[in-house]
Amino acid sequence: MNRRPLIAGNWKMHLTVAEAVRLAQAAAAASSACPDRDVMVAPAFTALAKVCEAVGDTPLQVAAQNVAWDKEGAYTGEISALMLADLGVRLAIVGHSERRQIFGENDAMINRRLLGALIGGLQPVFCVGETLEEREANRTFSVLEQQMRQGLQGVAKEEMRRLVLAYEPVWAIGTGKTATKEQAQEVHAFLRQFLAGAYEKNIADAVRILYGGSVKPENIDSLMAQPDIDGALVGGAALNAESFDRIIRFQ
Ligand code: 13P
Repeated sequence: MNRRPLIAGNWKMHLTVAEAVRLAQAAAAASSACPDRDVMVAPAFTALAKVCEAVGDTPLQVAAQNVAWDKEGAYTGEISALMLADLGVRLAIVGHSERRQIFGENDAMINRRLLGALIGGLQPVFCVGETLEEREANRTFSVLEQQMRQGLQGVAKEEMRRLVLAYEPVWAIGTGKTATKEQAQEVHAFLRQFLAGAYEKNIADAVRILYGGSVKPENIDSLMAQPDIDGALVGGAALNAESFDRIIRFQ
């Protein structure tokens, strides 16, 4: 199965609008130079409009870092898929571990956001991952299974094809501790197996599964060589044009 690689940068709560535009322009240039892979960046909400404008019709895809479940309404502080699509945003990250751990988002809430993204025409980048404590207690697979089962509730087969999955072990995020390629491959294979059971094999084979957690120029090539790793969701190393460029140009 040939899945098109996706290299994604999650800029989290960083960068002014001007800095974001400059970094997006660099990513757009790298993306144009690598037509055999997709490249995505997720700026903060404040920079989305200008980044979408700057990126124009280059192949670089722009994502939001989260999305509300309703189209509109009395939800102070939230941004809907409709509002994002209006700017030219095409994807939305949902279920990032920082939303789960720091802001208390649970599986049910994440499921609603994911459905909100799909209904609003955005492609969800659905994140799952275990904490260090869960891994050490041998609960990695049961935790992931629960996040998958609850997060994907009500997602139909045809919609599943539009979804991107991201495995981000919490213990590897921002810690400099990357999962080994074997650890990551083992989980990716498990997630694909889950999709084959919950949907069907050809859907499981088509869905792209990204790895996230201390991805850097030094480890991207060996991660991407794993059969079930189809891309990367990059935090810190995506904030530097040079290192993100190298990650985009993985071999
Ligand atoms: P780091 O690459 O900084 O570890 O962050 C990963 C991440 O959370 C991407 O969403």
